[in-house]
Amino acid sequence: MALYNDKVMDHFFNPHNVGEIPDADGAGTYGSPVCGDMMLITLKIDENEKITDAKFKTYGCGTAVASSSMATDMIIGKSVEEALTITNQQIIDELGGLPAIKIHCSVLAEHAIKSAIYDYAQKTGKTYKALEGFDPDREEDDHSCQVDLTEES
Ligand code: FES
Repeated sequence: MALYNDKVMDHFFNPHNVGEIPDADGAGTYGSPVCGDMMLITLKIDENEKITDAKFKTYGCGTAVASSSMATDMIIGKSVEEALTITNQQIIDELGGLPAIKIHCSVLAEHAIKSAIYDYAQKTGKTYKALEGFDPDREEDDHSCQVDLTEES
């Protein structure tokens, strides 16, 4: 069986929402403590707290590209509150599944989105229950699997 399904491969080869919004209302970066890869998410948010645009740049693997492509698709058109409820597991489900060793790549997307919304909240003075205690600089362990990358090479 192939390691990646067709949907993951499509989002990798034809990623959506690549780039950086120059006058973003929120921007967040996150580096994976598992592999060191980085992701930047920028957001455009209107006066009704609706996400009207989202873009990503990543110095990461193909799964990080596919995860952020899917994750940005998922949050465009949603309210900030709704976007904050999106988990890496939902991103994986929308992609039709990921190999266990690549689950941390989806955590990168989830955390970068939260960091971008945190930046928006800081700039606008808004508070969100889902961000209580959130520290954009805290390294999140991969909360879905334990990966030993020494086995990968
Ligand atoms: Fe680092 Fe996928 S994000 S291996």
